[in-house]
Formats: sequence, structure tokens, C-alpha cells
Amino acid sequence: MKANPIVILAIESSCDDTAVAVMCDGKILANIVTTQQIHEKYGGVVPELASRAHQQNIVPVMHEALKIAEISLKDIDAIAYTQGPGLLGSLLVGASFAKGLSLALNKPLVNVHHMQGHILSHFIVGENKAPQFPFLCLTVSGGHTQIVLLKDYFDMTIIGETLDDAAGEAFDKSAKILGLPYPGGPLIDKYAKEGNPLKFNFPTPRIPNYDFSFSGLKTAFLNFINKEQQKNTTFIQENLNDICASIQYRIVIILIDKFEKAAKEHHINHIGLAGGVAANSALRTAFEQLAIKNKWTAFIPPFEFCTDNAAMIAMVGYLKYKIGKVGNQAQVANARMEFDVYKSS
Ligand code: KG4
Ligand code: ZN
Repeated sequence: MKANPIVILAIESSCDDTAVAVMCDGKILANIVTTQQIHEKYGGVVPELASRAHQQNIVPVMHEALKIAEISLKDIDAIAYTQGPGLLGSLLVGASFAKGLSLALNKPLVNVHHMQGHILSHFIVGENKAPQFPFLCLTVSGGHTQIVLLKDYFDMTIIGETLDDAAGEAFDKSAKILGLPYPGGPLIDKYAKEGNPLKFNFPTPRIPNYDFSFSGLKTAFLNFINKEQQKNTTFIQENLNDICASIQYRIVIILIDKFEKAAKEHHINHIGLAGGVAANSALRTAFEQLAIKNKWTAFIPPFEFCTDNAAMIAMVGYLKYKIGKVGNQAQVANARMEFDVYKSS
């Protein structure tokens, strides 16, 4: 006899995207994301404005998701939400909304770690096969850069991470130095397509183990641009494509080299890329080439599951709900949350 399907409503509001998804047995029925444009003119996310925009967006975004999924609130088995990490004011909107909904509908809550969402987005049921364990994931976003080893869904260990800026910040800060609007990562990707990645040489930091550092690269980049602009005030305009291609090339090399070392030393065959920076075309190509070179299998989620979304939160909610790890009303939004780990042995 087939078990009843499990339907999850998921809410993500950790930064500047208000997102709601509906999932049935690991398959996405709706995945709605509203990106807040207001931050563009400030050159970065303004926390106070982000939480205000979440408050305005969350109800219409949920109704849109329910409409697309063709379900009503009474069909839901559990409500998953991002408990952390992220901007506290932003998290509070999603967490309070999820708690209110849980009380009103008398349905269980499932608290979710945002970065575990990025990692477990690889297991959203779709046309492609899911990765097998042990699985090594390179998670690259605006706030994090991590190499995570998974022996099972929730048996995950961070084996390397950034000591300062995240990879997404390295992209966004470089873009800002070039006078490009926030978030600059996708623009660097765009201009780099027409540029020569070997035109300008930027340094690779010497950091031990599997950790990363991007702050030295940012300073080197800033000094280089300032020096060249002093010599020629139109240096950026004349060389934009080559500058973008060269800085992108260096960020990608730093990420790929460390990840390759970690995968080899841990005898991994299945590798994954996750987080917003996984949308970067040069990184995706380098990751696929790395897998071909080493005879590994590479997993890169579809674009809509790479940048912040609630489908990935639904996936974690679904997996936790299935093993009985539901949350409660006493749990509070947590800007610095640690992974939820359940060891398999
Ligand atoms: O995972 P995400 O959507 O949000 C966080 O949890 O931080 O990642 C956002 C980051 C931003 O830094 C953005 O510039 C970067 O992902 N990003 C990209 C690209 N698309 C998004 N960076 C480089 N190339 C891209 N195509
Ligand atoms: Zn994220």
C-alpha cells in the first residue's frame, strides 16, 4: 500500500529574497521568489529595508505559490521555514509568519538551516539522479563559502570555509570597485564572457588546509584598479571585459584548487556545487571539467535552486519531517545558527 504523499509549505526570508515553495514527496509544485530591488541603489542589502519588504511580500508570495501548486492550506502536512543563519530582522519575518500559520492551521513546524538548504537542494526530486554518499559539496553564496562532507543527509561536516569574505562577496565587492550596481556577481559573469581571463594577474592566497580567504584578493584588486585609474582615467571603461574575466578566473581557480584537494584526500566520487555563486558560468564549467578530469560525477542544481529560494528549504523540511525531526514554537530566529547534524553511525 502506498503511503500518503507528504506536502510541505516552505518559507525563506534570510536575506533580501522573499520566497515560498510547495513540495510534494520531494517534488516541487511551486517555487516563487520575489527579489527586492530597493537595495540596488545602496550598493548592498539594507537590513531594515529588507525586513520591511519581507512583511509586504510574504502573504502575496504565499498565495501565488499555493495557486500555482493548486493546493489549499488544509492540504499541507508541515510548514518549513528558515530559522537561520541570516539577517535577524529578515529571519524574524519568515519565522513569525511560519509560527502563526502553524498555530492557525494546527500543523507542525520544521525549522531549517539555510546552508543545509543550499546543500540538500541537490536531492530535490527531478529528472536527474540524486548524488550518492559520501558526497562533497562546495557551497558558495553571498554570505558563505564552505566545503561540506556528507555521509548522509544530516551527517554533514564543514571541512573547509572562508576565514573572511565569502566568494559571493569577492564578486560583489570587485564589482563595486568597478562601479557596477549590487549584486555585481552576475554582471562580472556577463562582462567576463567577452574578456581575456589571462590579461591581468591577481594573487592566490596561501591558506592552509581546505580553508579560503578572499580579503587579500579584494585589497590587491582595489590597489590595482586605483593605480591604473590614476595613470588612465578611462582604464575601467576600456578594459571592463578583461578585468571581469581576470578577477573571475582567479576566484574560480582559488575555489576549484582547494575543492579538488579536499575531494582527492577524502576519496570522493560524487561532487556538488551549491549557493548563488553556483550560477556563475565559469565556475560551472570549471567544476564540470574538474569532474571529467578526475572521473568524478558532478552535480549542479538547476539555476532556480542555486540562488536563494524556498524549494531548498522545503527539501530539508521534507527530509526532517520524514525522520520525525519537527520543530516547535519556542525556537527563535537565529542569525548565527549551527548545522543540524544527525550522525548515521
Ligand atoms: O545564495 P545566494 O542567492 O544568497 C546568499 O545566501 O548569500 O547568493 C548570492 C550571491 C551574491 O553574492 C551574487 O552576486 C552571487 O551569489 N551570484 C553570482 C552569480 N549569480 C549570483 N556570482 C557570480 N556569478 C553569477 N552568475
Ligand atoms: Zn543563500
